[in-house]
Amino acid sequence: MDKFVINGGKPLSGTVMIGGAKNASLALMPATILANGIYHLHNTPDLRDILTMGRLLETMGVGVSLVDQTLTIDTKTMNSYEAPYEHVKQMRASIYVLGPLVARFGQAKVSLPGGCAWGPRPVNLHIEGIRKLGAEIELDAGYIIAKAKRLSGTRILFDVSSVGATGNVMMAAVLAKGTTLIENAAQEPEMVQLSEFLVKMGAKIHGIGTGRLEIEGVDELHPADVTTISDRIEAGTFLIAGAMAGKKGGMIRLEKCNQHHMGALIVKLEDIGAKIRTGADWIELTPPEKIYAVNATTAIYPGFPTDMQAQWIALMSLAQGTSIVKDTVYFDRFTHVPELIRLGANITLKENVATVIGVKKLTGAKVMSTDLRASASLILAGLVAEGTTEVLRVYHIDRGYESVEKKLQALGADILREKGEEF
Ligand code: EPU
Repeated sequence: MDKFVINGGKPLSGTVMIGGAKNASLALMPATILANGIYHLHNTPDLRDILTMGRLLETMGVGVSLVDQTLTIDTKTMNSYEAPYEHVKQMRASIYVLGPLVARFGQAKVSLPGGCAWGPRPVNLHIEGIRKLGAEIELDAGYIIAKAKRLSGTRILFDVSSVGATGNVMMAAVLAKGTTLIENAAQEPEMVQLSEFLVKMGAKIHGIGTGRLEIEGVDELHPADVTTISDRIEAGTFLIAGAMAGKKGGMIRLEKCNQHHMGALIVKLEDIGAKIRTGADWIELTPPEKIYAVNATTAIYPGFPTDMQAQWIALMSLAQGTSIVKDTVYFDRFTHVPELIRLGANITLKENVATVIGVKKLTGAKVMSTDLRASASLILAGLVAEGTTEVLRVYHIDRGYESVEKKLQALGADILREKGEEF
């Protein structure tokens, strides 16, 4: 397994190009199942998760190729309706194929995702939603087996706002007979993009970007092309890298990003003392003289993203004063905390609340990452820690950050990937 070796304390400045949003691509790719033909998904990031979703589609007979950030998908040769455990266990987003398969082919066999590194992540809302659309669903030997003649429109209320369930049920409802109302739908930019893509394919969806989606089912959809939105979490992670590098560094400029998707983080970064300037597709951050301690509570969009919680804790570990960081979306998503403590951070964790007392410095050590955003926070900490930090098991970071070490090197970081054995 590869590891990163980081010699911390180097000033960071310069420009970073932000890639396409992983979580948008992971929803757009399965949507292609809904119609026969060839699609071009531009600005698709070259990430391990995208490869995994591509392989899953290939097992169903779909043609998939990624060249120069354009993903070409050919669904004309599709010949299977099954998502095997081998793929789903690698990536939970594989469950996105459930809705499109049942809607278009009236059948699906999709492995249940099981647990995740930071605790249980249920898919009950996906299953209940698609069942409410009229599918017969049973769970058998770890698989969701779904059947339907044709789905029919209904009213659905999500007790919890869920990105995945919104996407899955929406992809099922677009081909249902009649109108479906989804109340408490997720409003994340990735779901807005999925809705707009479905509309481009011929779907009829009203209320896009709101918590109430009204979907008039159509008989047939057609392929369409799309340019994936930029990754707000990758962008946010680089802004925090700049903020942590502090006054030794200079300005960090992000290009090909969308500030409108990052409102909560931008406000928080200004609160810690960073100066932010924004333009149509760029953001510039001038790091603060000193980092003020600022609390953060994660929430669904447009609140502070859970996918930035680990990076925020890394930043707060060097702040002046004490901050409280609470995750209300995923209560157990704190595997980075014990590792940050190994680097010298002062963090106390009680249930889903981390109390972070800022320290003067972090010190390099060997740390191990256990999930994607935890890896990002350990790299951020390693970049400012005195001495050498080794971040082990970086395959997690490759799931969601394209060429992260190259982008950081270009900003002046001393970070190297040491190749290890494939796992
Ligand atoms: N939930 C349920 N039942 C369900 C589905 C979700 O109770 O059937 C709960 C979850 O336990 C959680 C909340 O609803 O408490 C929100 O989860 P959501 O369904 O929105 O998460 P997701 O769709 O599984 C996506 C992203 C995650 C991101 C979350 C929250 C993708 C592929 N994944 O997951 O991204 O953290 O939304 O914004 O879009 C990441 O990129 O690192 C990542 C984990």
